[in-house]
Amino acid sequence: MDNILTRRSIRKFIDKPVSDEDIESILRAAMASPSAGNLQPWEFLVINDREILDKVPELHPYAKMALESPVAILVCCDTRKKVREGFWIQDCSAASQNILLAAHALGLGAVWCGIYPNEERTKVFQELLKMPSEVYPVNIIPIGYPAEEKEPSDRYEEERIHFNKW
Ligand SMILES: Cc1cc2nc3c(=O)[nH]c(=O)nc-3n(C[C@H](O)[C@H](O)[C@H](O)COP(=O)(O)O)c2cc1C
Repeated sequence: MDNILTRRSIRKFIDKPVSDEDIESILRAAMASPSAGNLQPWEFLVINDREILDKVPELHPYAKMALESPVAILVCCDTRKKVREGFWIQDCSAASQNILLAAHALGLGAVWCGIYPNEERTKVFQELLKMPSEVYPVNIIPIGYPAEEKEPSDRYEEERIHFNKW
């Protein structure tokens, strides 16, 4: 509960690399996510090449933090594989949330930057990362050691909860 309730989007990072072990742990958490029919339609593209990271803000106006983050994970769905039509976005979103929570648990910061279903953003990321057109980038998640501290945000609203009928 503490990890879930204290996670915030981190958009400023210090100049310190993230270890390969931590990236593997984060991806292990991502792949532990639930998915429709347990089809696990996700793929993960790890970007740790500075030149590529520096190009991200040119393609995504709200992902400028990639200029500072030592690594980013692009969560994708390969629709050439068996996927549940219409459900894969939920599957990849579950994996994305696990990435954020795992990063936070490891003392790292991360932020989910949405790509799909914005058609233009989808296309430019596919081009930059040489992805086949059937592989959809769902979001890009810059990850690094936080250079900002954020208070937990209590968003609990009892009025949003409905029992048995609307
Ligand atoms: C689908 C989705 C798309 C998002 N896209 C962006 C984005 O492009 N850039 C960004 O800085 N944050 C993005 N966010 C992060 C939200 O702005 C953030 O989660 C929200 O403001 C709540 O803040 P918190 O994560 O600190 O709790 C996105 C989050 C989601 C779930």
